[in-house]
Parts: sequence; C-alpha cells; structure tokens
Amino acid sequence: MNPILDELKVFTGNGHPELAKSVCEYLDIPLGQAEVFKFANDNTFVRIHENIRQRDVFIVQPTCFPVNDNLMELLIMIDACKRASAGRITAVVPYYGYGRTDKKDQPRVPITARLVADLLTAAGADRLLTVDLHAGQIQGFFNIPVDELTTLPLLGDYFAAKEIQDLVVVAVDIGISKKARDIAEHLGAPLAIIEKRRMNNNDVSETMNVIGEVEGKTSLVFDDEIVTGGSIVNAAKALYEQGVKDVFCCVTHPVLSKDGSEIMAKSKFSEVVVTDTIPMPPEKRNGKFTILSVAPLLGEAIYRIHKGQSVGDLFK
Ligand code: R5P
Repeated sequence: MNPILDELKVFTGNGHPELAKSVCEYLDIPLGQAEVFKFANDNTFVRIHENIRQRDVFIVQPTCFPVNDNLMELLIMIDACKRASAGRITAVVPYYGYGRTDKKDQPRVPITARLVADLLTAAGADRLLTVDLHAGQIQGFFNIPVDELTTLPLLGDYFAAKEIQDLVVVAVDIGISKKARDIAEHLGAPLAIIEKRRMNNNDVSETMNVIGEVEGKTSLVFDDEIVTGGSIVNAAKALYEQGVKDVFCCVTHPVLSKDGSEIMAKSKFSEVVVTDTIPMPPEKRNGKFTILSVAPLLGEAIYRIHKGQSVGDLFK
C-alpha cells in the first residue's frame, strides 16, 4: 500500500460499488470492508469490518435510484463510522438526489435538498464531496465544508478531441446556461439557449424557443441530468426544426427513469455522452451512450482532501 495513504479508508454502500472500486484503484488502496444489507423487516443494517479509529474515512454513495434506500444506507454508514471513532467522515455523493427540490417555488412545498443536508450533517458527516449539483447554492445548505467537482472539463475535452466544425453548444434551459457557456468557452464555440417551461409537477416539460444561431451547425446539447429524456429530446426536435445538421448531447448524471433510456435510444442524437456518477445497468445501456468515468476525478479529490491540498487547483 502507498504509505502516504495508509490512514485513508474508502467504503461503499450499494449505490455504486463499481465506482467506489475504481476510485480505490486510482488511489491504489483496497476498498474498505463493510456489509450493508436489509433484514427481512426491510431495516438497513451496516457493519464496518475493519478498525477505523482516527482514520480519514470516505463513503462513496450516490443518492440515485432507489433514492431513499441509498440515502438511508449512506446515513446509517456515517452513523456506524462515527460510532466506530472515525477521525473524519466525508460523504462522497457523486449524484445528490433531491437536488431539484431546492427552493419553495410553490405554496406548501418542502426544500428537500436542505433536509438531506441536515440529515447528512446530523448523522455525523464532517465534509461533503459531490459532483455538479443541480444548483450550486445547495452548497450553502451545509454548515460543513463542501467540495463540488465539475465534469465540464471531462465532457469538454471529449468533444474537443472530435474537432467538430461549426459547433454550437446548446443549454437545455436557462437554468443550465451558465454551465453550458463554460463548455462553449472550453470548445471555442458559440452558445444557444432553449427556453423550456414546466407546467406542473408531472415530469413533463415544454420547449418554447431556441435563442441563438443554430442553422446549418452541429449542436451539442448540454444538461446536468437526464431523467425521462423529455427535456433533451424536445430540445433535439426544436433544433432540427431550426435547421441544425447534427445533434450530440452531453449530460453529467444519467438518472434515466424506466423509459428514459429507450427514449434516448429512439432520439435523433448521434451520441449521448454521460458520466458514471450514477450506475448504468446493462438494461439501460444502448449504442447511443458513451460513458466517461469520474473515478480519477473523485480519486484525485479524495487524495487532495486527505493531504490538505487544494481541490480547486484540479480545475486550473
Ligand atoms: C431540470 O431543471 C434539470 O436540469 C433537467 O433538465 C431535468 O432533470 C431533465 O429531466 P427530464 O429528462 O425528465 O426532462
């Protein structure tokens, strides 16, 4: 084992063990031994199978499908580590579920993203390491340090290597336009923005207008997550109506509801590039998807947090 890292421990629940293993490969350390399962009464149980007293513990667990189970596992794992006298506990949450419920924009609704922050802190997390939050302001829901990594350079470099001529980056909605602008800058391409509207709480969105010059260009549509695929597929349709010649898309988190993957398979996109912040089981994969791994990014951030080095420098 690398002697520098001998106090660092990485554990995983059932949210994304493959990613946790890849992170450990990057760090050149074994995955921490633990069992995380449900009893017959549906209660989640956790046992850490090694000594973690005073260790720097990182628990890798995206709160993706099944969201509540994965969240509860994470909370219980944090509790187990705290009671086992871990020196410091970092919740590594590559996908932060409930991130879309981040404000009171209708009467009598919760701010669940804040509630989750409180739960993680109450359970005993000392830090949060996460990737591309739905809204950066969620960082402020925590009173513990938050490191938010971004996949924009990873996605941007992938498309830069393709050397696509006449490229335009398209933000799926106004909310994502700032991040889309960063990708556009990375690629030296102009930006267009789709005006999207959600009418109510039924997961259906409506594309209103395309703002910007797209005719005759190849579009790269960007969003933070795909769930039903509705927003991004509507965007592709609107772009073809405006005369684009080809459409790619890149999205950080492949949440993908039951039909989402099939909808993307049938879509007009030439390629759908996502990352592995969320697992993509074989039934959700199809020829359209390219999956880029965030394991080196997470591994390097974990190393830097452990060593007290700058995480921001990773993106310079
Ligand atoms: C919403 O604001 C998000 O940025 C995504 O646009 C949304 O989660 C995508 O959902 P769907 O694929 O169901 O349209």
